[in-house]
Amino acid sequence: MANVTVVGAQWGDEGKGKIVDWLSNRADVVVRFQGGHNAGHTLVVDGKVYKLALLPSGVVQGKTSVIGNGVVVDPWHLLGEIAKIADQGVAITPDVLILADNACLILPLHRDLDQAREAASSQKIGTTGRGIGPAYEDKVGRRAIRVADLADPDALKPKIERLLSHHGALRRGLGLPDADATELFDQLMEIAPKILAYAQPAWRVLDQAHKAGKRILFEGAQGSLLDVDHGTYPFVTSSNTVAGQAAAGSGMGPKGPGYVLGIVKAYTTRVGEGPFACELNDEVGTHLSTVGREVGVNTGRPRRCGWFDAVLVRQSVAINGIDGIALTKLDVLDGLKTLKICVGYKIGDRVLDYLPAGMRDQAAAEPVYEEIEGWSESTAGARSFKDLNANAIKYVRRVEELIGAPVALLSTSPERDDTILMRDPFAG
Ligand code: IMP
Repeated sequence: MANVTVVGAQWGDEGKGKIVDWLSNRADVVVRFQGGHNAGHTLVVDGKVYKLALLPSGVVQGKTSVIGNGVVVDPWHLLGEIAKIADQGVAITPDVLILADNACLILPLHRDLDQAREAASSQKIGTTGRGIGPAYEDKVGRRAIRVADLADPDALKPKIERLLSHHGALRRGLGLPDADATELFDQLMEIAPKILAYAQPAWRVLDQAHKAGKRILFEGAQGSLLDVDHGTYPFVTSSNTVAGQAAAGSGMGPKGPGYVLGIVKAYTTRVGEGPFACELNDEVGTHLSTVGREVGVNTGRPRRCGWFDAVLVRQSVAINGIDGIALTKLDVLDGLKTLKICVGYKIGDRVLDYLPAGMRDQAAAEPVYEEIEGWSESTAGARSFKDLNANAIKYVRRVEELIGAPVALLSTSPERDDTILMRDPFAG
C-alpha cells in the first residue's frame, strides 16, 4: 500500500477537506506539511460540520495527526482550534496530535505586519491577514522562534530581542508602535506548557510509522497556483504548496509522499487578488458562486468564479507529478446549457498551452475556449459512475483527456459518502 499526498490543483478551495476526510478513514496518520491557519477545511461528518484551519483533518476521526515542520504555527490559534473542536465532542490529546518541534511560530507581530502591509500597499495580494508571509520571511531569515524554543526560556529571551530589532524598523516604517519584548516573552511562557505537550520530533514519528507499515496521508493546503514558486507570483501564498513539499515539510524522504492525488473543482475559483483568465462576471459566474456556495471558510470572503481551466490544471499535473485527480462539485454545473473549458491562452498574437511566468503576460492572457454540451439532470449525490448522465460523463472524460490524468475519485456532494471511487489511491 502506498502513502497518499493530496494537493489542490487550482487556487485552493477545491474541496480538499472532504476528500482528505474520506481518505483519512483508510489512513493511519494524517500530516500537514505547509501553510498555516490561512487554510480552511470544512468537513461534514454524519451531518455535523467541522471547520478546521490548522489541525490536520484526521483529528476528527482520532487518527494520529501531525503538524509538520513546513507549517507555520500560530500557537494561540492552535489552542483555540483544539478547544473549539473539543466543544464539538472531539478530544485532541497529545496521543492524537503531534506538533513538529522544529516548526516555526506565527506571532502577533507577524499578523500586525501582514495586515499593515496590505493596508498600505498599492498592489494588494489579498492575503488572509493571518501573518503567514511575514512568519515564513523570518523562517528563511533565520530569526524565527520555533516550537522547541519554548522549552528553553534562557535562549528564548535573546532570540526575541534579535527578532524585535528586525521588526522594529519595519513597524516604524508602517507607523506601528514597537513590540514589547517582555510582553511577548510572557505571552509565550504562558502557553509554552500547553504547546510543548504536543511537541515531538515529527520526522521520527513518521519514520517509525513508515517502518511499521502504517499508511500516511499528506494533506496539502491552498493550491498549486498559489505556490510561491509555481503560482501566479506575487499573488500567491508564501509556501510551496506542491506535492514535493510533502517530503521537505514533514521530514520524510522524497519517496514518502507516494501517490499524488490532485483535487480539482469542475470549474475554477480564486480568493484574493491576481490574474484569473477564465473569471466570469455574468450570470454563469453568479450561478457558480451561489449554487457552489463559494464563500471563504475562514475569512467569509466571496470567491471569484469562472470556467474550468484545463491549461492550469495540466500544468499542475506536471508540477506535482499528479497520478490521479479527485473531481469535486460537478453537480454545481447541473442545469447549465453550454459549458466552456479553457484549452489555451491568447496573449497578443501568440496562443500558448501553458501559463507563462511573467506578470504582464499572466494579466493579459485571454482564454481560448472549447464548448461542450451541458445537462439538465441532477448529478448531486450520485454514488456510481452509472448514475451520471451521458453529457456529464463526456465532460469528465474530456477533462481527463485535456489535463493528462485520470479521475480516481468523483465527489458529488459535501457528504462523505457521496463519493464515487474509480481507483483507490492507497493501492498506489
Ligand atoms: P496568505 O496565505 O494569507 O499570505 O494569502 C496569500 C494568497 O493566498 C491570497 O490570495 C489568499 O486569498 C490565498 N489563500 C491563502 N490560503 C488560502 C486557502 O486556504 N484557500 C484559498 N486561497 C488561499
